Amino acid sequence: MKNNNQHSLDFGDITSKLNKINVNNGLLITFEGGEGVGKSTQATILFHQLEKYGIDCIKTQEPGGSVLGNNIRKWVKSSSNISPLSETLLFEAARSQIITEIISPALNQNKVVIVDRFTDSTISYQGFGHGLDIEIINQLNKIATKNITPNLTILLDIEPEIALSRVSNQTNLFTGGDTNKRIDSENQRKFEQKPLEFHKKVREGYLSLSKNDTRWCLINAQQKSDVIAKLILDKTRELLMKNGVAKNRLED
Ligand code: TYD
Repeated sequence: MKNNNQHSLDFGDITSKLNKINVNNGLLITFEGGEGVGKSTQATILFHQLEKYGIDCIKTQEPGGSVLGNNIRKWVKSSSNISPLSETLLFEAARSQIITEIISPALNQNKVVIVDRFTDSTISYQGFGHGLDIEIINQLNKIATKNITPNLTILLDIEPEIALSRVSNQTNLFTGGDTNKRIDSENQRKFEQKPLEFHKKVREGYLSLSKNDTRWCLINAQQKSDVIAKLILDKTRELLMKNGVAKNRLED
């Protein structure tokens, strides 16, 4: 257990901060998947559960998470005449900023960092979806993230036909109360409105990525929300225990 910010705390705050549980070297947990799979809801559920355990954690999202990132978010989600390469560079610029401002400092303070979308979104959307060279995206991802890679990636998977009908029926169902989502307006749904073929390629991208690496946890997102949340929590607890958190600190 450690606290790097003790000098800046007032006394009223000190007890709760000192009781927070940190993990060895910080942990990065990313949520990935196509449109309407429920990522934001599940990321929020996990964040609250970890807070309940007293784990020192933060939650953020891409694109977004910083002033620059939020501006880029509005821009890429609404501009229809932007080339796939320009789009990729904008996502990477937002990523570089969130890494520098938020993710890297939090990992250095041994926090758990939950991110709604990360590098695999660019590989799946701009690489598999738009056909941009995957090797170039891998290189850009490495530069933007300063080589930071996730410890665990939750992939919520549903056939795009089903997921997209969920999005169009209940646009706000999956926002998980995330304030960044509320800044999106009707004209910022460019990706949801792409043809089904595009979303199928994105899904294929995710599925093939998840086969290559043990950091992935593939979950059928057609299951009930509480079932999905339990699967994610079990996987996360496993990871936390491997990283120095005592099992008895992770009980309800
Ligand atoms: P968002 O509202 O966050 O979508 P979702 O709720 O599905 O996460 O919008 C982000 C959109 O940007 C989403 O359609 C996926 C797309 N995107 C990319 O195409 N490439 C990327 O690298 C990232 C981070 C997002």
